[in-house]
Amino acid sequence: MTQDTNKVAVVSGGSKGLGFSICERLADEGYRVATFSRKGSEAIDGLIARSEGRVYWQSVDIADATQLADFMRNVRERFGRVGYLVNCAGIANEGLLTMMKPREISRMLEVNVTGAIALTQACSKQMMVGGFGSIVNVSSVVGVRGFKGVAAYSATKAALDGFTRSLSKELGSVGVRVNAVAPGFMETDMTSELTPQQKARIVRQTPLGRLGNVDDVSSVVSFLLSDASAFMTGQTFVVDGGLTV
Ligand SMILES: NC(=O)c1ccc[n+]([C@@H]2O[C@H](COP(=O)([O-])OP(=O)(O)OC[C@H]3O[C@@H](n4cnc5c(N)ncnc54)[C@H](OP(=O)(O)O)[C@@H]3O)[C@@H](O)[C@H]2O)c1
Repeated sequence: MTQDTNKVAVVSGGSKGLGFSICERLADEGYRVATFSRKGSEAIDGLIARSEGRVYWQSVDIADATQLADFMRNVRERFGRVGYLVNCAGIANEGLLTMMKPREISRMLEVNVTGAIALTQACSKQMMVGGFGSIVNVSSVVGVRGFKGVAAYSATKAALDGFTRSLSKELGSVGVRVNAVAPGFMETDMTSELTPQQKARIVRQTPLGRLGNVDDVSSVVSFLLSDASAFMTGQTFVVDGGLTV
């Protein structure tokens, strides 16, 4: 169980979408939340303004090791040791694989996989010293099922699921849990280019009859960070209204 009275959470990609919802929820639950993205947003500025110093944001490109190290230093100085991590930052370049530019593919790997692994390495060292921690990786239903037009993106998300399983075996003995959440399609900027027809098709294929929203997923992330899930590690939890059943 957690012995942490100063709950410090790092959330990547907190300026909008799912990452923002996670930051807002964790701040409401009493965590100190450190987050980053390349650009700021009115949403994160508003949360910082009402958080009484409990939320910190910095401009960081997760693919830049120097910026990431600077962020980790600032978080340590401001909040102390990190006990919780949500790897949420991600990009999705869609298109048939044969038509994609190599740079688009390598950028997705740098952000979604290499960046998440580097951030996890930095945070998990602090968790090991503290003797506890919980990590949640945001993967996707495309990592567990095939969908046309997202082959390279799917590879990055399946990579996170494999990372989750193996890392849980490395860190379990020191009290650190590692899980993943695989959302279905949520209404965020990432899915804003889906046509009404595409959205209607997804809704038809979803037993619960709607697209997901960020609260559907941030509530599960919060559960997985908390002691309510103290005996769960190494798993990927699909949150998709039944789409992939
Ligand atoms: N939306 C969906 O239907 C869906 C479904 C399954 C899984 N997911 C996953 O859920 C996560 C969040 O998605 P979302 O829909 O909330 O996306 P979103 O609204 O586009 O937000 C993505 C966040 O990641 C940040 N980010 C992107 N590239 C970054 C970089 N290089 N360095 C630092 N931060 C970066 C963005 O800020 P900046 O652009 O300013 O850097 C933003 O804060 C992603 O991992 C995504 O793959 C989404």
